[in-house]
Amino acid sequence: MTDHAPAQYAGPKRVLSGVQPTGDLHLGNYLGALVKFVRLQHETPTFIFVADLHAITDWQEPSKLKGQVREIAAAYLATGLDPKVATIFPQSAVPEHTELTWVFNCVARIGWLDRMTQFKDKAGKHKERASIGLYDYPVLQAADILLYKATHVPVGEDQKQHLELTRDIAAKFNHDFQAPGFFPLPEPLIQGPGARIMSLRDGTAKMSKSDPSDYSRINLTDDADAISQKVRKARTDPDPLPETADGLESRAEAKNLVGIYAALAGVSVEAVLREFAGQGFGAFKPKLADLAVEKLGPIGAEMRRLLADPAEIDRILTDGAARAREIAQPTMAEVRRIVGFWNS
Ligand code: TYM
Repeated sequence: MTDHAPAQYAGPKRVLSGVQPTGDLHLGNYLGALVKFVRLQHETPTFIFVADLHAITDWQEPSKLKGQVREIAAAYLATGLDPKVATIFPQSAVPEHTELTWVFNCVARIGWLDRMTQFKDKAGKHKERASIGLYDYPVLQAADILLYKATHVPVGEDQKQHLELTRDIAAKFNHDFQAPGFFPLPEPLIQGPGARIMSLRDGTAKMSKSDPSDYSRINLTDDADAISQKVRKARTDPDPLPETADGLESRAEAKNLVGIYAALAGVSVEAVLREFAGQGFGAFKPKLADLAVEKLGPIGAEMRRLLADPAEIDRILTDGAARAREIAQPTMAEVRRIVGFWNS
């Protein structure tokens, strides 16, 4: 792509991420994304949005979409995002996301998008019937990130390829428009045992909102009984837990449950194994269920409390959108000037 290394981006550090308002949030979203947002907000200016533009790449009932956006915002707040610290906003309230997407559509190459595995998974066998929006989804994601010149993007492992594409788009824009260092090449923040939470029914499939079985995932809104029952029914094997992480390598379900415990407790997998080595799932599962109820129970309750007062959530989102635009508008004005548009 570029035949010389781009000049370094010299702007401030910024964190940005988003979640789609397309169904109940689950433990994977919580551990892979939300928990990290909460931690990072105190270290670096943090922008967290609700990705309603991404949501409509798949049909969404218009009369329900705003409610779905409020639910994700409630989950952010209930997990501990502080609207006075982090900027929380709906993506569609900042129209510069779509404007920058158009410019990036002319930078990104079809060959790059053809490699995106998430599109292949989501479009399935009939890819010619998928929306162009679904195909273009990663370009919009690049615009989300680069509009704020974000340098760090906390996400689960499934987003790694989209982050690589974002870096490619940033580098090609900087190169093609002779604007070295204009956009940063953002770093994904993926590490840790929460980065890839698997289905409770199949340790080789990702925990996902779209899995038809509700027993495959723990939802943030599940009550204590549902959480305990899902952990009890989670697929496992008959062997006791090993002494070291290597011993989990060929045991997908065991590895997943130990990883969930580690991520919820905020400790390493090795620390969990030091505590439970030699014990079977009969002993481990009740401890995991208790921990999950202890961590998630208050979040579900707080979400219900917040959603009972939508006006307060709306106030936070409106304020967040205004603050987000203070960053987005100058970036877009610079892009217009760099590209040579009439209105620059
Ligand atoms: P979405 O809504 O599918 O998922 C939200 C976040 O949850 C993470 N995640 C998981 N992490 C661990 N284990 C799992 N089983 C699991 N399932 C989901 C996802 O990696 C994600 O971090 N494309 C994004 C939304 C988005 C975005 C962005 C993110 C749009 N623009 C810009 C970052 C920056 C998505 O579909 O997330």
